[in-house]
Amino acid sequence: MFYPFIRKALFQLDPEQAHEFTFRLLHRVNGTPLQCLIRQSVPNKPVSCMGLNFKNPLGLAAGLDKDGECIDALGSMGFGSIEVGTVTPKPQSGNEKPRLYRIVAAEGLINRMGFNNLGVDNLVENIKKTRFDGIIGVNIGKNKVTPVEQGKDDYLICMDKVYPYAGYIAVNISSPNTPGLRTLQYGEALDDLLAAIKNRQLELEKRHAKYVPIAVKIAPDLSEEELIQVADSLIRHNIDGVIATNSTLDRKLVNGLINSGQSGGLSGRPLQLRSTEIIRRLSTELKGKLPIIGVGGIDSLTSAREKLDAGSSLIQIYSGFIFKGPGLVKEILTHI
Ligand SMILES: Cc1cc2nc3c(=O)[nH]c(=O)nc-3n(C[C@H](O)[C@H](O)[C@H](O)COP(=O)(O)O)c2cc1C
Repeated sequence: MFYPFIRKALFQLDPEQAHEFTFRLLHRVNGTPLQCLIRQSVPNKPVSCMGLNFKNPLGLAAGLDKDGECIDALGSMGFGSIEVGTVTPKPQSGNEKPRLYRIVAAEGLINRMGFNNLGVDNLVENIKKTRFDGIIGVNIGKNKVTPVEQGKDDYLICMDKVYPYAGYIAVNISSPNTPGLRTLQYGEALDDLLAAIKNRQLELEKRHAKYVPIAVKIAPDLSEEELIQVADSLIRHNIDGVIATNSTLDRKLVNGLINSGQSGGLSGRPLQLRSTEIIRRLSTELKGKLPIIGVGGIDSLTSAREKLDAGSSLIQIYSGFIFKGPGLVKEILTHI
C-alpha cells in the first residue's frame, strides 16, 4: 500500500545505495516489534519440487541477498524460498561502481555487479542464524581470479561448505559479469562440470545422510541448438532442476532508453517474453524429467501465470520486487 511512496524516495538514490539503505533498515527491523510493518500473511500453496516441500511456488531470485544478511526479514514477506548468493569461495568486491542501473521507462535493471560477496564461510554463518521456515537455496559461483578452466574447483569448494545448510544448491554458469563464466554452459566444459558436481553431490549425500538437490541456472541468450544440448546434458547427468533464466545481454527491447547502453545483464520486464520462450522450449525438451524454476520479468499475476503455464514448477522474482515491492508477493500468492 505504501510502496509507491517508498519507491519514490528510494528511486531518488543511486540504485546500489538504495539497496544498501533498504538492507540496513531490514536488518534493524528484523526480530523487533517493527517487523510487523514488513510481515505479510499469504495463503499456503504447497508445491513439491526436486524432492522438497515448498510452502508456495514463489521464491526470491539470487543476487538480492548475496550474503544471506536478511533472510528472515525477506522471508517474512511471504516467499516460499529464498535463493542466497551468488557466493564464491573467497570474498571479492565485484566490479567498479557504479554497476547497477534502472531503466525506469521499461521497468528493467542492468547490472554488472560481478559477484560482490563476502565469501562462502560468511554466508554459511548467516544461514545458521536464520529462522526462516521456507527453503533456502544457495547459489554458487567461481571467483573472478580463478581461471575458468579451474572454475570447477570453486564450485566444489562451495558445495562442500554449503551442503549441510542448503535446501538446494544452484550452480550459476550464466552470469554475464564474470569473464568466461558462460562458456561453462557449452559442450565438454558443461559435461565435465556437471559430472564433477554430480559425483560430489553423491559423496556429500553419504557423508551428511541427506540429499541436497542441484539446480543449474542458465542464460536466456542460448540459441535453440545450445538449449537442446544443455537440456540433454542436464538429463544425462541426473541434475535435479534447472533455473531459467539469468539476465540477458540483448538490448533490443530497451534500445534508446536511458541507461540502455550500460554493459551488464538486463533483467525485468524487457526479459519477460524471452525467458518464457526459453522455459517453454526447455519444457518440451526435458519432457518432465527435471523441473524448471522460471524467472525473468515476472511483475504481475499474469506474468507469473505465464511462467507456470510455460512449464515452470516454481517461479522467482527479483526486478519486479524492486519495481512493485512486497505487494507483488502477496498479489501473486493470493491469486495463483
Ligand atoms: C542486481 C542484480 C544482481 C543479480 N545477481 C545475481 C547473482 O548473483 N546470481 C544469479 O544467479 N543471478 C543474479 N541476478 C539475476 C536474477 O537472479 C534473475 O535471474 C534475473 O534478474 C531475472 O529475473 P528478474 O527479471 O525477475 O529480475 C541478479 C539480478 C540483478 C538485477
